[in-house]
Amino acid sequence: MAETLQFPTGHVRLGSNAGQPITRRDGALKVTGAATYAADNRPDGLLYAVYAASSIARGRVTHLDVAAAKAHPGVVEVMTTANRPPLARDPDAKVHMFSWRLEALQDDRVRYAGQPVAVVIASTLEAATEGARLLAPRYESEAPRTGLDDGEAFAPEAVGVGAPPSFDKGDVEAGLEAAAHRVETQYETPAQYHNALEPHAIVAAWEGDHLTVDVPNQAIAIARNDFASFFGIPPENVTLRSPFIGGGFGSKAILNGPQILCILAARMTGQPVKLVLTRQQMFGPVGHRGATRQALRIGTDADGRLTALEHRASAMTSRFDDFLEPAANASQNIYATPAMRQIHTGVRADIGTPGPMRAPGEASGSAALECAMDEAAEALGIDPLEFRLINYAETDPASGKPFSSKALRQCYAEGAKRFGWAGRPLAPRQMRDDAGHLVGWGVGTAMFPAPMFQAKARAVVREDGSGLVEISAVEMGQGALTALAQIAADGLGIDQDRLEFRAGNSELPDGGVAGGSGHTATAGSAIFAAGSDAIRKLADIATEDEASPLFGAGNAGVVARGGRLYRADDETRSASYSDIMARAGLAEIEGEGTGARNPANAEDYAMFSHGAVFAEVKVDPELCQIRVSRLVGAFAAGRIINPRLAESQLTGGMIWGIGFALHEETVLDPRTGRPVNGDFAGYHIPVNADAPSVEALLVGEDDPYVNALGVKGVGEIGITGTVGAIANAVRHATGVRVGRFPIHIGALLG
Ligand code: MOS
Repeated sequence: MAETLQFPTGHVRLGSNAGQPITRRDGALKVTGAATYAADNRPDGLLYAVYAASSIARGRVTHLDVAAAKAHPGVVEVMTTANRPPLARDPDAKVHMFSWRLEALQDDRVRYAGQPVAVVIASTLEAATEGARLLAPRYESEAPRTGLDDGEAFAPEAVGVGAPPSFDKGDVEAGLEAAAHRVETQYETPAQYHNALEPHAIVAAWEGDHLTVDVPNQAIAIARNDFASFFGIPPENVTLRSPFIGGGFGSKAILNGPQILCILAARMTGQPVKLVLTRQQMFGPVGHRGATRQALRIGTDADGRLTALEHRASAMTSRFDDFLEPAANASQNIYATPAMRQIHTGVRADIGTPGPMRAPGEASGSAALECAMDEAAEALGIDPLEFRLINYAETDPASGKPFSSKALRQCYAEGAKRFGWAGRPLAPRQMRDDAGHLVGWGVGTAMFPAPMFQAKARAVVREDGSGLVEISAVEMGQGALTALAQIAADGLGIDQDRLEFRAGNSELPDGGVAGGSGHTATAGSAIFAAGSDAIRKLADIATEDEASPLFGAGNAGVVARGGRLYRADDETRSASYSDIMARAGLAEIEGEGTGARNPANAEDYAMFSHGAVFAEVKVDPELCQIRVSRLVGAFAAGRIINPRLAESQLTGGMIWGIGFALHEETVLDPRTGRPVNGDFAGYHIPVNADAPSVEALLVGEDDPYVNALGVKGVGEIGITGTVGAIANAVRHATGVRVGRFPIHIGALLG
């Protein structure tokens, strides 16, 4: 009966669950504290590990007072380079695209501040903490280099996760030469650290050569395989449990050194061990958004059409690994231009390796691009929204392919209307509020790829008509458990309160990566396919059963809904799942499904989510304090499975955009290489008072090609247009264009 579940264009027919703005399935568990996070696990015999972190950024550890630590009451063991058990895999090896080089006490070198240099294992957290303090490391220190200017530049082979480091189309120099107006500009973005509310944490327990880890993780199957390879055991000997994650943002998609150290500690002591990073330890070994410097050149003709767009980015990475923020690539797919060029340079310094952080590349890159576009509009004397419409890309500027869908024009229109953009004065410093504050309005285009990865799922119809879906999908606060369960219920044709949904565990079918804004699309596709597979089997049984009201419905087809199958041509004829199964004497019917992109569609279409963000800022004319008084974003991301959660994702991204524009920055002391603001007292993120009015509008979009569900993604796009919109609003309010993020009061005081 598969064909009855398909639209000819490739869309499947979802049922009554998807599209509903239901509240989170796990909401009550979370507000009552019943949801367990990794650090909540306390197996019998639990020990606590605390690592000593290097206070220098470059050099060698020359001495650790192991005796003092060991003598402390409660300390069970001290792990150093001298006694660290062997690993089956070299932590300095790059094994696959998602493997980072890790520090796991392989030698005495210090590569950045905050690197683990020894681990103390004790019967209490307090004893382990005091033991780690007593180690009092001494160092042979070299002068660190931590900035973009004093690092060592190199030409990268790739940026991001395997993306090409450069791209060329047309003749950029000729385009700039022929331009009526040219803008040449530069923007810097700082290092930002993920700092999810839940810090990195792990509980590791060995039973013989079976390892169980409770660890928040966005890529469960990859992590399970990696843990297995580090410890020389088959993947099926690793059980990874990650039922709830208190925010990941990319940081929890990558394995890190402290996790390996905790598992080693459990192996050394023969007891379960817990290791939880302190907030301060989050600044170092667990990834960050690398700093960038971006130079743009934009040429336009007299009518405002782009003649050339060049985007160069220098991105920082560590001495020993190579992840680079793919910032320049953010300008490849947004604006129509006959000529463009994107080039990345890497800069090595004595810092921890950066990694993916919510909209890696697009967040930093679009911040610079959207500001540069605003500069170009200003040079032309054209309204910045009008300028973006003049350069609207009807096809993908990089590949020339059509977009699988693109409702960006509607996003601009609906966002502008809601915001009240019409009537915006062209010149800066024209608007004031009643309190005398300068008011400015800015716009930015939001865009993010709509990728799919690989996922598998299993679905079961039970004899009582209820359903079960199993997939190692990842709930990290984004609402996956809820949205995916809505798809699951529709795949099985049941109401969602009749569905049991199991996720977040490596024993379940591989749910793929919760990253790249592709989790709903990928895991959702697998889930729906698994449900459809089970229903197809059920329908085959019913239509061949003479006693069934559906007997002979084969050609006409059946529809699955509310735990019943209906004849498509005559809905008065129906049977409940439980009746069908009872007659057939079946307790369960099982289906399997996979999610992945249709390769033909991937070949033919460019696939992105789009949006437009409008910002209003108010600036105190004397103190130059900046407030974002209003943000309106309008986003088109294909079919929306749960509008409430999608809105929450989008507004969350926009609020991060406020942080990017005005607050977030890790400052390294150039003398020591240590963060001077490595905690929540000094590392500022927006609070409620910083985000008084943030609205995300969902613009309807039908995408027949992106996948059978028509689903794109909403996890990362919210941050992308917002940073530029705010910076442009600051410029509009004050007349000052600030070339460095976050925008400080000092830059406006000039
Ligand atoms: Mo994300 S940076 O793909 O978790």
